[in-house]
Amino acid sequence: MNIQSLFTGYRLNGLQLPNRVVMAPMTRSFSPGGVPGDDVAAYYRRRAAGGVGLIITEGTGIARPAALDDPNAPRMHGQLALDGWKKVIEAVHAAGGRIASQLWHVGQKASRANADAPSGTDYESPSGLSATGEVVARPMTKADILATVDAFAEAASTSEKLGFDGVELHGANGYLIDQFFSPELNKRTDAYGGESLVERSRFAVDVLRAVRAAVSPRFPVILRLSFMRANGQGTRLVSNPEELEQWLRLLVDAGADAFHLAQAKFEEPAFPAVDAKLTLAGWVKRLAGVTSIAVGSVGLDKDVYDSFAGETAKAAPIDDLVSRLAADEFDLVAIGRALLQDPMWLEKVRLDQSERREDFPPSAFSRLY
Ligand SMILES: Cc1cc2nc3c(=O)[nH]c(=O)nc-3n(C[C@H](O)[C@H](O)[C@H](O)COP(=O)(O)O)c2cc1C
Repeated sequence: MNIQSLFTGYRLNGLQLPNRVVMAPMTRSFSPGGVPGDDVAAYYRRRAAGGVGLIITEGTGIARPAALDDPNAPRMHGQLALDGWKKVIEAVHAAGGRIASQLWHVGQKASRANADAPSGTDYESPSGLSATGEVVARPMTKADILATVDAFAEAASTSEKLGFDGVELHGANGYLIDQFFSPELNKRTDAYGGESLVERSRFAVDVLRAVRAAVSPRFPVILRLSFMRANGQGTRLVSNPEELEQWLRLLVDAGADAFHLAQAKFEEPAFPAVDAKLTLAGWVKRLAGVTSIAVGSVGLDKDVYDSFAGETAKAAPIDDLVSRLAADEFDLVAIGRALLQDPMWLEKVRLDQSERREDFPPSAFSRLY
């Protein structure tokens, strides 16, 4: 296996990367009161020292009362949290790394208790309804939407000023931006809803435009997307490459430099009836003409849902990944659990020490190393 394809440089808008490997965003819940401390800085520094090309932070809350549901998840606002992030950035840069912040708003949740919000504050979402029609949040007013768009832009501008090397907007995994994409969760009859995915993308477009305007033109703006609808039933947001292209065009025109395709297994063909092998990240690169980031079970034999269910994932070969990168199917690859378990994962790949690559036991979730 010629691993050279992993170790060639890449330019993401104004950011030069030394290789194709990105650390996937992973919520760790080790930031009490939303403030990342020295242990969090050391955790990210280790991955930079291990040679990761770009680190994407765990999701960080934008300045909305119900943006987060976890008091130990970090925020991207408030002096203490920003001071904490500054130390994280300095530690990563000192180790020769690059780091982008992931900006997050959880939107609606099944439970109305909100640990991060002032008591009595409800979660907010496009229509306040679950996929089965229960009231689980407060439907956002136009004023809420405008304030949330501003809060994303403010967090992006803050990230650039602090010294982050880019931002990623969390538009995947059923959180707020993804809830707007969903026909089940977004029943709005104003300009933010509608029958088509293009209509339901208005919120994402507004967020992207505001973020783009708030940061320098060369500052990378990544959008993380899910392929599946946020209804928990495994239905897709788009059913063919034409719909995917139309959606991506809209988001590129609004300012996305890159798409990060959240998937459990990166190698799954997206439209097998059209192409038996081409992955979602491959289709996105082909159709959107911007940077495409693949993710999902790289280097492990079980996916993230198996890990959440308590199974141990064993270290697995990465030949398929390497050959797809060599063929330019997509541009970058994000590694989640393998890097959470082992900061030196990439170095072991580089030195061809596959026998030293570690398994991912569920106990890794509760350890910050
Ligand atoms: C502990 C944990 C926390 C995660 N938190 C986030 C998050 O904050 N934001 C996000 O976009 N994805 C999050 N994810 C998903 C990962 O970014 C990634 O897509 C997923 O783990 C699949 O990659 P892997 O198979 O390499 O682990 C999380 C995953 C794990 C394991």
